[in-house]
Amino acid sequence: MADFYKDNFDSDIMHRNVFKLYLKGDSGGEKKIASLLKRHSVDSVFCFSDFLAKNIFALENLKFNFLSIRNTYKLAGSGYTARSTQKLDDRFKVLQYSKDKPKISKPDILRFARIIGATSRYFHDSAIPKIYAERLYVRWIENSLKGYADECFMVMRGGRLAGLITLKIKEAAGYIDLIGVGENYQGIGLGGVLASRSIEYFKSKNIKNIFVVTEGENLQANIFYQKNGFITQNVELVYHKHF
Ligand SMILES: CC(C)(COP(=O)(O)OP(=O)(O)OC[C@H]1O[C@@H](n2cnc3c(N)ncnc32)[C@H](O)[C@@H]1OP(=O)(O)O)[C@@H](O)C(=O)NCCC(=O)NCCS
Repeated sequence: MADFYKDNFDSDIMHRNVFKLYLKGDSGGEKKIASLLKRHSVDSVFCFSDFLAKNIFALENLKFNFLSIRNTYKLAGSGYTARSTQKLDDRFKVLQYSKDKPKISKPDILRFARIIGATSRYFHDSAIPKIYAERLYVRWIENSLKGYADECFMVMRGGRLAGLITLKIKEAAGYIDLIGVGENYQGIGLGGVLASRSIEYFKSKNIKNIFVVTEGENLQANIFYQKNGFITQNVELVYHKHF
């Protein structure tokens, strides 16, 4: 089955008609995909495919570039176990965006767009100008703070952003949308604190399952989610094609 639609957010920023193509199970093969592409005015396609030889050959024949593997992790009900790295020193303040309304500066937003975006498919694709990849993450964070996210938690240190997590709720499931920790503060438990506050938040909303998507090659993030009790739920191949 193929799901194919224009992504207005990406299109807007990249000044191109960007489409997303999801291949769930058997895509129907090369001809089916080619006919989908022909029916629209397509400049770029970002494709996420199940791991299936038929899809792989079809996409390769159509000159899609294999860019990445993305893992969807799920944390179910009681899967989370709080870890010892959860005590931060007093200079760090953990804030809930909807209640504490901290002011996040533009340079902090740009810094975090770079930290979070660096491992993403947008930054890995040499055909996408860095300025667009960066802008995409800047806008994503800005929109999250303006209400696209249902909640955000941040760790502040001396008025500067040291860690950020943005959360969404869709159809009674929780999603970690963006997560990043300042380069100087990684590996000392900030991510763990953000994850545990998020899990508490979802629990308070009666949400049992929490999902997060990350690139397979982002070992740091994969280790982080696994250590926090998340289990791989789905693996997809990521392809880009530009016309
Ligand atoms: C992934 C990330 C959010 C984790 O936050 P963090 O504050 O560094 O994580 P914690 O300190 O709570 O560490 C938890 C575990 O993650 C792993 N980890 C964290 N930093 C690591 C690093 N630099 N290298 C390898 N593993 C690391 C460790 O295994 C650690 O376990 P430990 O406490 O037993 O040593 C953070 O490293 C980050 O911002 N990375 C860049 C942005 C990113 O990749 N975002 C995710 C996109 S989906």
